Amino acid sequence: MLPPLLVPSILAGDHARLADSAALVGRLGLPWIHVDIMDGHFVPNLTFGPGTVAALRRNSPLFIDVHLMLDEPARYVEAFATAGASQISIHIEPAYDHAGTLAQVRRLGCKCGLVLNPDTPAAAAEPFLAAVDLVLVMTVQPGFGGQPFRRDALPKIAQLDAWRRDRRLAFRLEVDGGIDLATAGDCRAAGADTFVAGTSFFGADDPAAFAAAFARI
Ligand code: DX5
Ligand code: ZN
Repeated sequence: MLPPLLVPSILAGDHARLADSAALVGRLGLPWIHVDIMDGHFVPNLTFGPGTVAALRRNSPLFIDVHLMLDEPARYVEAFATAGASQISIHIEPAYDHAGTLAQVRRLGCKCGLVLNPDTPAAAAEPFLAAVDLVLVMTVQPGFGGQPFRRDALPKIAQLDAWRRDRRLAFRLEVDGGIDLATAGDCRAAGADTFVAGTSFFGADDPAAFAAAFARI
């Protein structure tokens, strides 16, 4: 089992000081930062675009974990790859060429991930497991930070982990939404290894102590 990887989500950082958020993450020795991209259609909110990712890339050597919450992700993967994304994750729910878009992300030189909403069953991802670097299980309905963790995601995490073991696959199993030390522990027990944390990380009185505690979940 991989050691737990804490991935701070800059959605919960100061949007006028994104480089400072990335610098804090880097100073704590955390290798990844999570960037949420929302289009106002797939989710009822707006956040960042490729220009934001490009600016982060100019200011930070971190692995940039881009989570696309878009109705038409295939239209935008090239722009995010060119901007300097390290990994691009796309949702399964909208209708488009999922396999072709995952392959395109890899051709563009990025790692690729597939994302499942809380009401989407694990079976929807099953045909793609050998073709991805990461599966992201949403533990809230995407669109906003600060929502409560959904425990009904735990069996889905366990199912994906079981398929990963049975097939000797190496994708990461990431969770996103309502993650704190307690809910991360529950996800870890179910098989997750990669933990996006927005509010709990950037809202912590002492992010260094939070990261240290996280390493021991
Ligand atoms: C929600 C986003 C999350 C968000 C998590 O749609 O995908 O990445 O930043 O925020 P918290 O950790 O506050 O639930
Ligand atoms: Zn996210």
